[in-house]
Order: sequence, then C-alpha cells, then structure tokens
Amino acid sequence: MFPEIKITKTTTPKQKPVAGQPLPFGRNFSDHMFVMDYVRGEGWINPRIVPYAPFEIDPAAMVFHYGQAVFEGMKAYKCEDGTINLFRPSCNFERMNNSNDRLVIPEVDVDFCVHATKMLVDIDKDWIPSGKGESLYIRPFVIATDPFLGVRASDTYKFFILLSPSGAYYAHGIKPVKIYVEDTYVRAVRGGTGFTKCAGNYACSLIAQTIAHDKGYEQVLWLDGVEQKYIEEVGAMNIMFVIDGKLVTPSIAAGSILPGITRRSCIEIAKSMGMEVEERKISIEEVIEAGKSGRMQECFGCGTAAVVSPVGELKYEDTVITINNGEIGPITQKFYDTITGIQSGKVEDTYNWVVKV
Ligand code: PLP
Ligand code: COI
Repeated sequence: MFPEIKITKTTTPKQKPVAGQPLPFGRNFSDHMFVMDYVRGEGWINPRIVPYAPFEIDPAAMVFHYGQAVFEGMKAYKCEDGTINLFRPSCNFERMNNSNDRLVIPEVDVDFCVHATKMLVDIDKDWIPSGKGESLYIRPFVIATDPFLGVRASDTYKFFILLSPSGAYYAHGIKPVKIYVEDTYVRAVRGGTGFTKCAGNYACSLIAQTIAHDKGYEQVLWLDGVEQKYIEEVGAMNIMFVIDGKLVTPSIAAGSILPGITRRSCIEIAKSMGMEVEERKISIEEVIEAGKSGRMQECFGCGTAAVVSPVGELKYEDTVITINNGEIGPITQKFYDTITGIQSGKVEDTYNWVVKV
C-alpha cells in the first residue's frame, strides 16, 4: 500500500562506536539514510534508502538563504529480548506536518514516514547501542532546494532521515542541570514559529545559550516574548514544576512553545498516577517565590534527547534558587523510570505508546 522504497546497501560499512566507551550525543552516524524528494506537481517522490554520505546541493538552494527547514527528533531502543522499540513515532511526523504547514513546506504522509523509519532502523539495527542511557537517535528533516534568490516558498524539497547512535544528551547523565533564566533575548512570540521545530528557532537561541554557557549554566529557560514574565521552555526541553504536590507546566495554547511528546507523556503519566496537573501561565516571580518558600519541591526538563532531566538550580537576574538541594527528587525519578522503562521495554506499556520495528 505504500510506495516502494528502493534500497541500496553500502559496500563499505563503517566502524561502529565501541560498546563500553563513552558515546557522545549526535556525532556518529549509521551506514544508511532515508531520502525522498518533493517536486511541485508530482508530490513526494523517489523514496530510497542509500549509503550515508555527503550529497551535492546548489549553493543557491533556498534553505541556505531563507532558512526554510524543519526537523524532528525521536529514538529507537533495543530491548533485552532483542526487539526494537520506537516511542510514539506518529506524533513526531504529525508535529513535522504542523511545522511544515507553518513554513509552507508540503506535508508528508505520517504512516509512510513511520514505515520508512522502521525500514531504515531495521537495516541499521546493529547500530542501536545498548549501554545505559544509550539509544539510536533518529533525525528526520526537510530542506528547501530550489536554486533561487527570490523570497517565496520553494517548489522542491528534500526529506532525510539520519540515525545517530547516541549516549545521554547531557554528558553527565541524569545529574541535575543548572539553568539560566534569559531576561534579554526572546525565542518566540504569539503568531511566530515557537510551536514548530524549524531550524531558525534554534539559530536564534544560540546567543543566549552561548552566554549562559560562559556563565556556567547548561541551558537557558526562555520567558514569553512580550512581557518577559511568563515561563516558556528550555532550549531543547519543556519545563515542569512540582508545586504543592501538583505538576505545573506552561500552557502551549499561545503557540509559542514546542508541544513536546515527552511533555505530553509526562502529563498523561501524572494523570494516571492521580497527580493533579495544571497547564497554565506561570510567571517567573511565582517560580522564584515557590522556590524560596519551599512550595516548589522539584523542577525538571523533558524532551526526547534529554529524556527527563532534573533542574538543580535556576538563576534569574540576581536571584539563584536551589531546588531539592540540587538533587533529583522522587517525582522526577518516577517520570524518568516510567518513560525510560516503557521505551526500553522494561515497564509494561499500558498506554500503547511503543511501536515495534
Ligand atoms: N522544546 C524544544 C525547544 C525542543 O527542541 C524539544 C525537543 O524536541 C522539546 C521541547 C521536547 O520535545 P519532545 O519531547 O517532543 O522531544
Ligand atoms: C530532541 O529532543 O529530539 C531535540 O530535537 C532536541 C535538540 C537536540 C535540538
């Protein structure tokens, strides 16, 4: 029922990362990649799996000039019984279509993309690492390829899926991170592209991240783009607070925050544990106050790459608050264990989130 995917296998397989050695995030790539092309009038054509390699592209390609590019991020996990799990992969391609719509990129067929992902992962299954915290990071992306310098939507695109055997996003694993609350730059505004995974969102965040790194902070916590008063999200994660025993997280209704699949999963897990969840506006003042008064018990970021990452310290202007003595708290640990347990097949998937390759 799906278009045929033409497969060309590599004749020169690469050296795989050595098990037991530290495995960085996103630096190694498997032997193959999935590619398809879009031509206006013809749709998405020529789906193929080919050896991973550099490719030629016209220097006038529109992606280089006007940034018409979107991406996704998900993972494949090797289970102890040898089977391979994907985690809610349709959600990623549905979100990619939301990004595509916003950037005037043609939509992809969600079911076909999941099928292509499964085929690619199956071909390169020996690249899935199985050390603690390790997985095969999957990076689908689309770029505009018309060689044209006028500003308009491209008529041609390329879609790729890359596979990268990866360790933890933060080299120190699940140790709490220190986060800098950004009070100068903003990432997104209502009506903008905050809800998408477009390349430009990340390009414009680099300056704040660079400054925060120089000050000894791992990540930036963004405030809203209008009043710089309300919490939005972290550079590569959504943010969650445990305040008075409730799970509190910024509402995504204004469209300035990425609707994270891990965020959605945490909310569903919290509700099924009987924990009260509030998706609402939450001001930085409220967070500082709750931190100082002890009403905020825990804080964590959540995302595919970072999984569930405890926040041990928040710095806002001249105020520094330490959360849960800079240690991971029991609720954060519970989310981490449940999500990684379901992903790796060690915890029963009562939610039907896992898709087997
Ligand atoms: N927010 C941003 C800006 C991200 O880049 C990510 C990562 O994809 C997330 C949140 C978390 O989203 P997800 O849980 O779908 O990976
Ligand atoms: C992810 O969590 O998949 C991301 O895309 C985050 C980051 C590496 C940009």
